[in-house]
Amino acid sequence: MRIFAFVLALVASAAFAADLSKEQRAEIEARIQSYSQACVVGDEACAGAGATAAASGPRSGEDVYNGACMACHATGAAGAPKVGDAAAWAARIDKGMDALYASGVNGVAGTGMIAKGGCGDCSDEEIYAAVDYMVDNSK
Ligand code: HEC
Repeated sequence: MRIFAFVLALVASAAFAADLSKEQRAEIEARIQSYSQACVVGDEACAGAGATAAASGPRSGEDVYNGACMACHATGAAGAPKVGDAAAWAARIDKGMDALYASGVNGVAGTGMIAKGGCGDCSDEEIYAAVDYMVDNSK
């Protein structure tokens, strides 16, 4: 009788374990996934995982603009020169692209134009491309 109860308990706990994993597997897998999918920048496994600039090459000026600059430069928020507003850009463009690149990377002291427009993971080259994109569309 004792053995029977023991076996019963075993079977019951096995069933319980199976139920548990069935119900929670998805949740657990989702939780583990961020670790199992961790990839090293440049690793082919990262391609398509998006995000990392180094893995997928530099983002285009348009992508950077849409992600990091548009918030101010599409609307003129904080006094930003609007992309497409040739009058607002003419005097700036006259300063030369190097000056504008420098403003893009370093920001403009005392204004809402913070370094790299706040895009901490943008490379200098990506900022240059975004500046090119903005200038090309503001002449
Ligand atoms: C939080 C708002 C904000 C964001 C985001 C922002 N800018 Fe600006 N930007 C400004 C403002 C305000 C100015 C005008 C500064 C001034 O008074 O000369 C400006 C000016 C500029 C200028 C002209 C600077 C000059 O020397 O005339 C460039 C180039 C520029 N931004 C590039 C960018 C790029 C590239 C991004 C995205 C990576 C970006 N900005 C994101 C607010 C912003």
